[in-house]
Amino acid sequence: MPEVSIIVPTYREAENLGVLIPRVSNALSGAGISAEIIVVDDNSPDGTPEVCRVLAESYPLKLLVRTTERGLSSAVLAGMNLAQGDLLLVMDADLSHPPEKIPEIVAAMRDPKTDFVIGSRYVAGGSTAEDWGLFRWFNSKGATLLAWPLTSTKDPMAGFFALRRADYLKAVDRLDPIGYKIGLELLVKCGCRRVAEVPITFQDRLHGESKLTLKEQLNYLRHLRRLYNYRFGIWAYLAQFILVGASGMVVDLSTFALLLQFLDIRVARGLAIWTAMTWNFWLNRTVTFSFAKTEPWWRQYVAFCGSCSVGALVNWGASLWLTQSLPFFAAHKLTAAAVGVVAGTAFNFILCRVVVFQKRA
Ligand code: GDD
Ligand code: MN
Repeated sequence: MPEVSIIVPTYREAENLGVLIPRVSNALSGAGISAEIIVVDDNSPDGTPEVCRVLAESYPLKLLVRTTERGLSSAVLAGMNLAQGDLLLVMDADLSHPPEKIPEIVAAMRDPKTDFVIGSRYVAGGSTAEDWGLFRWFNSKGATLLAWPLTSTKDPMAGFFALRRADYLKAVDRLDPIGYKIGLELLVKCGCRRVAEVPITFQDRLHGESKLTLKEQLNYLRHLRRLYNYRFGIWAYLAQFILVGASGMVVDLSTFALLLQFLDIRVARGLAIWTAMTWNFWLNRTVTFSFAKTEPWWRQYVAFCGSCSVGALVNWGASLWLTQSLPFFAAHKLTAAAVGVVAGTAFNFILCRVVVFQKRA
């Protein structure tokens, strides 16, 4: 049984594999590591599978060609399911990840106190190749920042990482990644808390072009939301609900300012509130409580408007009651109003979560 299974997802990497596999093999034998290499290809039209079959004659290489599914994350998982090593190591095929760093990553993983090792661009000694455009740099930094509540590692976006197969197997039923960030998914769901980062220089891909499209970037946001919900439960839903509410306030005020140009203030105010409420409904239905998206919208809409009205009543009642019964709030009416807003929002949130947007059994 090999100690390490190296998993390489590929899509149209025929030109790179011929360079990658010998370099991986050299690095392994130089360090005396026993390993298998598993290439998971999604039936690339450029001859990647054929190149692999030839390489398999000289190297310890297994090839899995998938014809019914596509995607980086699911390819990595498919490779892990075939793996036999105690350690699973994932890397890109395009030579962005230096194979010469594999021994260092494996050595770090051999420490029983370490659960997860990242080939990291953002620790001392790590870097990215010179000609990374400002856009890609900014993009990568922004994406990293958004993952910060989930992990304190410096490079959670990395596609060059390793973990124990035993930890993978414990979490395998909970995994449902979308998009590109399979490392982050595993980091969060396998409960890997003790993370080591080995500095690497992330090279520009040798041949071909990146498959990281705008669609994958949007998928990242969806993926993040799933991970937040997984890790923070009800608090993640509350945070989304509050963000939706804040965006609704912007919609409310801008609609009001616009309508005031040609409508009576009473009508303008009413229409603005209604617009914002509808906006909030739509966002809560499609984002915050997206699990209830399959239910008919109109019943939810009526219930949501009802819930908002009750929430407003709670808000109004709480602030008035406080100002009238407690001297402190009589002197601080704005504070009382703020408490009212919090009470109304909390009430509205609970009603939405429990009554308006129900999970179908
Ligand atoms: N099987 C399979 N199916 N493999 C895929 C697919 C797919 O749909 N899409 C991409 N791959 C493979 C590529 O062939 C390559 O080996 C690896 O996954 C990474 O794909 P790239 O297209 O080169 O991605 P990238 O360079 O933009 O992104 C890399 O760096 C990011 C950090 O900047 C990846 O490592 C990301 O995971 C990482 O976040
Ligand atoms: Mn790449």
